Amino acid sequence: MNICCLGAGYVGGPTMAMIAAKCPNIKVTVVDPNAARIAEWNSDTLPVYEPGLYEIVCESRGRNLFFSTDVDSAIRNSEIIFVSVGTPTKKQGIGAGRAADLRYIESAARRIAEIAEGPKIIVEKSTIPVKTAEAIITILRANSKSGQFQVLSNPEFLAEGTAMEDLQCPDRVLIGGEDTDEGRAAMEKLVGVYAQWIPRERILTTNLWSSELSKLVANAFLAQRISSINSISALCEATGADVDEVGNAIGKDSRIGPKFLKASVGFGGSCFQKDILNLTYLCQHFGLPEVSAYWESVVKINEWQKHRFAERIVRELFNTVTGKRIAILGFAFKKDTNDTRETAAIKVCQDLLAEGAEVVVYDPKVTEANIRLDVLGGAANDNLKVVTSAREAADGAHAIAILTEWDEFKTLPFAEFYVKMPKPACIFDGRNILPHASLRDLGFRVFPIGKASKTLRRKTDAA
Ligand SMILES: NC(=O)c1ccc[n+]([C@@H]2O[C@H](COP(=O)([O-])OP(=O)(O)OC[C@H]3O[C@@H](n4cnc5c(N)ncnc54)[C@H](O)[C@@H]3O)[C@@H](O)[C@H]2O)c1
Repeated sequence: MNICCLGAGYVGGPTMAMIAAKCPNIKVTVVDPNAARIAEWNSDTLPVYEPGLYEIVCESRGRNLFFSTDVDSAIRNSEIIFVSVGTPTKKQGIGAGRAADLRYIESAARRIAEIAEGPKIIVEKSTIPVKTAEAIITILRANSKSGQFQVLSNPEFLAEGTAMEDLQCPDRVLIGGEDTDEGRAAMEKLVGVYAQWIPRERILTTNLWSSELSKLVANAFLAQRISSINSISALCEATGADVDEVGNAIGKDSRIGPKFLKASVGFGGSCFQKDILNLTYLCQHFGLPEVSAYWESVVKINEWQKHRFAERIVRELFNTVTGKRIAILGFAFKKDTNDTRETAAIKVCQDLLAEGAEVVVYDPKVTEANIRLDVLGGAANDNLKVVTSAREAADGAHAIAILTEWDEFKTLPFAEFYVKMPKPACIFDGRNILPHASLRDLGFRVFPIGKASKTLRRKTDAA
């Protein structure tokens, strides 16, 4: 069997590499018009960093896994065509700032219609609004010579940073299709691919709309848990409760469960915000403003949490950071990825720069060019510096702020850093990963998320 995937991004590359590794009988071609990206997939420096990805790619590349810019040949030769192109939030026009921009989906569908000769199964791997399959089917059937298309929804649930584990052993694979003989046959064909390594009971088949909607709802529920615990982190700071203790206590309730209850500086990544905004737009579209407002609050709390973190830095540094050096450790939206889309670090850096701080960023996997573009959008600002080690960032800094939970930050030589920092030296732990008590013993003022700082507690005691 030949399959192909349109879109060699964070999803297309890793998912197809896993299929190729697990199904040596299938020839997998990943295509993308972005020649530079394809060249990287064919090199030793892959465009996506994920633990284990390089090894999986090397195992199959040139055997049954190919990366190419030849979109048309891939369409022509494949029985199953995955579409894994970007679906960013619309920037202008109707629904700007909320609705999904479906231009890449539509152009992919039109290309398939034009090129395809025989029957094809089109698989929506991208995250799309409910009912997108209807639009794709209409475009395909109106523009093709053959007209024999089945459209399936197969949303991807991998999380960046653990993509390879998630793909190897997913909680579930979801496949939605039309409730017709042809639709069921197409679903069975795709089930047959995944069943080569995933237990059959974990492969769920549903109708198209349930599958499309489930992806948006899964991301909305995950993000909602983060905003819920982050909202409580503010209350913990104000009252002297400890958000880790609260999270642990409520997580023991089997109805709540322990996962995704870690407070932080706010969620990032390309999906959570985009998908919730898309959900709120859909709710508005279907005349459900109350449902829309409910989910919108998840994004509002997240924005507030990022600004709250920057404000706390300013407040605790005696209400001015002008001319002060602040070391930002971590820029990726989470550890083990180089992805910075919607990372909380962007807003925190921007807020601190607006206050006149000298912001010095270190991240083990994100490039200087990427950081500059994200924070400054192409403008110049000498107050933003990017360095190549945590030590360099901390040297002479009034404060260190942890923005990403990279493992290497847990064992940094903070005693040595302390000596070279103006006093009082502060640490703002936006991920609660550091040993706060021993840092206080070294002399640092420590401000974790969701825990009253020592200073604050003393003030309260005195009052
Ligand atoms: N990143 C994630 O963690 C994640 C997880 C689950 C689902 N998703 C969803 O998967 C989709 C893809 O996300 P991503 O992060 O891989 O995006 P991405 O921006 O990394 O990659 C998309 C790629 O599609 C290519 N492309 C655009 N039009 C094309 C066409 N007509 N033919 C071939 N290639 C084309 C682009 O050049 C780009 O390289 C999105 O809908 C996203 O919401 C992402």
